[in-house]
Amino acid sequence: MQRLTLTQPDDWHLHLRDAEVLSAVVEATASCFKRAVVMPNLKPPVTTVEQALAYRKRILAVIPHKYQFIPLMTLYLTENTSVEEIIRAKNQEFVVAVKYYPAGATTHSESGVTDLLKVWPILEAMQTHNLPLLIHGEVTAKGVDVFDREKIFIEYVLDPLLENFPNLRVVLEHITTEEAVIYVNSKGDNLAATLTAHHLLLNRNDLFDGGIRPHHYCLPLLKRESHQRALLAAATSGNPKFFLGTDSAPHARQFKEHSCGCAGIYTAPAALPLYAHAFEQAGALDKLEGFASHYGPDFYQLPRNTETITLEASPWQMPDSFGFGTDQVIPFKAGETIKWRVSRPIV
Ligand code: NCD
Ligand code: ZN
Repeated sequence: MQRLTLTQPDDWHLHLRDAEVLSAVVEATASCFKRAVVMPNLKPPVTTVEQALAYRKRILAVIPHKYQFIPLMTLYLTENTSVEEIIRAKNQEFVVAVKYYPAGATTHSESGVTDLLKVWPILEAMQTHNLPLLIHGEVTAKGVDVFDREKIFIEYVLDPLLENFPNLRVVLEHITTEEAVIYVNSKGDNLAATLTAHHLLLNRNDLFDGGIRPHHYCLPLLKRESHQRALLAAATSGNPKFFLGTDSAPHARQFKEHSCGCAGIYTAPAALPLYAHAFEQAGALDKLEGFASHYGPDFYQLPRNTETITLEASPWQMPDSFGFGTDQVIPFKAGETIKWRVSRPIV
């Protein structure tokens, strides 16, 4: 059997949700990943260290004992975030970054920032205290074509931001375009990017494959195939600026299959096998470990994991759905065969 052993990976961009669905979502990630950077877009958002630590406690309470999963928390940047909160975050080892959502860009982003000038002192404090900024990189102006939102963001928001804060550490999250790959490559080591499995495996044709596919709808939107190829090339390049962040984002079936459906794809149940599939198709399985397990902690200035996990080529079928409390969630690749399987870390 084909087997691949690698340093246990981490997920540097994850939505765990809360309340009754939390335990099911946590288990899917904890069974494979050692750490995850947990997004703060709850309702209401996680804006303070105190809220982040309370959320972290709720997560810790539902981790099955056999896993040693470490949630790393983020604060949701708002126009009311204070410099004191940034300093509190810096002094708390389990809060590792601040997340910037342009207001209105995605799920639960109503409290996001309308104008970066309003958070200038916060960005200054983050640069001074070496706290990374995680960016949802899309403009929200109504006149901008939805497929161009990332490209325009880079030109009009991100580039000026980095000009003004040349030492701020920034992760451009879930990049979807060739322009983003080129831009990240053109800047210094303080700028990195995460890549999702679904953006490596799909392009915008998959949104309309024989009919509209709500379970392929995520933000930023899937782009055309040439962009998918550029993302795959970046992920498999061995360049440490690009690392794993699933953006696994479950929504109940009735809110996906809806006249105004929610954005988000639930990839956690097969996250690492999906990346392995994409890397294998690109003939680059040897590059998976760096991408999944080394470059993320290096960027976050955290130690690499010492544990290993093994991927086996041993096909299994993704369930058609998962029961989450009273809801159902349809996973990515529902009902389809997944080639790779993770043998659980020994703990
Ligand atoms: C995410 C969610 O549902 O929380 N959705 C998504 O499509 N990726 C939010 C986000 O990361 O944009
Ligand atoms: Zn996300």
